[in-house]
Amino acid sequence: MNQTLTGKNILLIISGGIAAYKSLDLIRRLKERGAGVRCVLTGGGAQFVTPLSVAALSEEAVFQDLFSLKDESEMGHIRLSREADLLVVAPASADLMAKMAAGLANDLASTVLLATDKPVLFAPAMNTVMWDHPATKRNYRILLDDGLHAVGPGQGDLACGEVGAGRMSEPLEIVAAAENIIAGQPTGQPVAAPLKGRRAIVTSGPTYEAIDPVRYLANRSSGKQGHAIAAALAGLGAEVVLVAGPNNQPDPSRVTIRNIESAAQMLAACEAALPADIAVCAAAVADWRVAGEAEQKMKKDGSGRPPALNLVENPDILATLSQMNGGRPSLVVGFAAETEKVVDHAQSKRTRKGCDWIVANDVGTGTRVMGGDENTVHLITAADVENWPKMPKDAVATTLAKRIADHFINHFGSE
Ligand code: C5P
Repeated sequence: MNQTLTGKNILLIISGGIAAYKSLDLIRRLKERGAGVRCVLTGGGAQFVTPLSVAALSEEAVFQDLFSLKDESEMGHIRLSREADLLVVAPASADLMAKMAAGLANDLASTVLLATDKPVLFAPAMNTVMWDHPATKRNYRILLDDGLHAVGPGQGDLACGEVGAGRMSEPLEIVAAAENIIAGQPTGQPVAAPLKGRRAIVTSGPTYEAIDPVRYLANRSSGKQGHAIAAALAGLGAEVVLVAGPNNQPDPSRVTIRNIESAAQMLAACEAALPADIAVCAAAVADWRVAGEAEQKMKKDGSGRPPALNLVENPDILATLSQMNGGRPSLVVGFAAETEKVVDHAQSKRTRKGCDWIVANDVGTGTRVMGGDENTVHLITAADVENWPKMPKDAVATTLAKRIADHFINHFGSE
């Protein structure tokens, strides 16, 4: 796991919005990376998450009141903001963004934000019409001009039932942004974006291969790993197109999503997204599709005999991208899910398909990798086999993205 946040103090300001529930997970994610987390909960924030949950997860007192004698006697608002290495505002409501842009200091959160001399990262979260409002757009620009860092918002289903921009970035995207800011801090450099100017295509999720208008062949891939890789590459500054089969993952922010169903559509979307410097094929593409999808729903014919499904092989997207004659992405990474002789099989897959790296994992019975949160992988390159420890899929993603960034820096120098 990335060590950037180890020993750092984060002051997390939770303002009012349904996305505040994600901030509870954010506390966990920051703490599992070794950061100390202190929280300020606004009045609005306390309508959505309880001080007790925040205190229990952060293992610290929760600060809520500007004029609390107890808080002020134990820790003044100046100390609160100065003792942090980074202030994170998540969710950043339209109201709090407006206060920050105007320099108001009429509650603890806004006062701490005005009193700080530390970097501030904010994660906007609001209804899409509020986000699109000229006043919010103006405030957002002011905050960026003032040198604050923003992460998100992403697109997708909003808690209010509408769909659009305004969804708070996922906790791990906020963590990645915080790591970038902290990593950039000592030299006073802007947020580290080693993949800035690089284009990446990431495939993710399963494919659905139609049998007839209502039935299809599919697999159990959740898209967790592929989506996390797309988010991690975008977090390092790459311009990412995520070609995704049907899935229930939230759309990562700052990533262009191409939703597809079949392997043929996935290949076409990948080809349309070229040129690219990086291709990561994490999708579980169906090996076969049904020859000649039935135009009408297939019916039982009363004979008791099941219909025969004729299967034909799908295009291999990884092999196609790896073996392109002109315009091949300069780094093509595949995945290999194996149930036995994991490294041996993955090594031969790497040469057979012609990709540069393979991320190999054991998906044998009992490993619970498919659909699960953790993964134990080996990174296989032409020269080496790296055995990575068991880690959450998002940590596999950030580690892989970092390796990809290092590869480009080593081969082509930094941008
Ligand atoms: O051959 P196998 O399915 O084990 O290969 C896995 C790797 O190949 C993964 O990176 C997967 O995304 C990719 N693949 C592909 N198109 C296919 C089959 C697999 O891109 N039709």
